[in-house]
Amino acid sequence: MAARLRVVRTVKALRAAIAGLRSRNTSIALVPTMGALHDGHISLVRLARRRAGRSVVSIFVNPAQFAPHEDFGRYPRTWTADIAALSAEQTDLVFAPEIAELYPEGFATRITPEGPALAGLEDKFRPHFFGGVATVVAKLLLAAMPDIAIFGEKDYQQLLVIRRLVRDLALPVEIVGGPTVREKDGLALSSRNAYLAPNERQAAPTLYRTLQENAAAIAKGGPLAEVMARGTAVIERAGFKIDYFAARHAETLAPIASPEEGPIRLLVAATLGTTRLIDNLGVPLKPAGNRQRPPRTGKR
Ligand code: PAJ
Repeated sequence: MAARLRVVRTVKALRAAIAGLRSRNTSIALVPTMGALHDGHISLVRLARRRAGRSVVSIFVNPAQFAPHEDFGRYPRTWTADIAALSAEQTDLVFAPEIAELYPEGFATRITPEGPALAGLEDKFRPHFFGGVATVVAKLLLAAMPDIAIFGEKDYQQLLVIRRLVRDLALPVEIVGGPTVREKDGLALSSRNAYLAPNERQAAPTLYRTLQENAAAIAKGGPLAEVMARGTAVIERAGFKIDYFAARHAETLAPIASPEEGPIRLLVAATLGTTRLIDNLGVPLKPAGNRQRPPRTGKR
């Protein structure tokens, strides 16, 4: 019979439980989540099991990363299903603290990330967001002290902010990125997809389709500004209000004018009705051989 999934609610109990797991001389992976688990989260949980001896999942809807007008109150909470899914994945431990456990009365210390957190993408539309994410992720990492922590490429800017946080504070943990899991029609899985009305759900895959078309066009050498303008029009025609649709340097998120300047990541955030969706995709690099080989002049 499968061992029963253990749930702890305090940092003290988490540390004791992890010490117990560690005494068996095994590595530990942490997967931070806000619950409402879908197959995207589960793919990270599976990656954790492949990469480490024991897997720990945190479930905490972090109030610090929601602005007052955002959906903290109505963010989906599906505890029973989450625990059933994690049990089926043989997760070893769940950390599910109350708000007061991570933000006790008088809490007054926040992390203010810069660099990729000020790229003018998510930060421009959710100015409080990465401060809240960096603060809670630092707290989770310091509480669990895992060997690795896993985050999805779905939230690409978040992944870069966390990599920088760990590097700048010299936290002894390896950050691992997991690929985006999508519906059959390409829509990236997200807890917020549940908010979409049926007609919006039908239009939603345009986001990924446009990312793919643009990535292919840029890889083929299409002029960046023109390709992006065309993609913008396609997304707007599908009914989205675009917050940003940008081609950035994949490692720094700096604006980029051509593939010669470095690897490109396309990032988009757009609203359908009242639901805000984000997605991103890397532009495939041309194989070096193709880039440098002179045109053929005759038969061999
Ligand atoms: P949440 O939105 O619950 O996402 C938890 C993790 O799942 C994140 O690393 C996110 O990038 C990843 N994820 C979401 N959708 C995915 C998909 N379709 N495919 C692959 N991975 C996906 O992101 C957060 O929570 C919070 O900001 C958190 C990091 C937990 C801090 O509060």
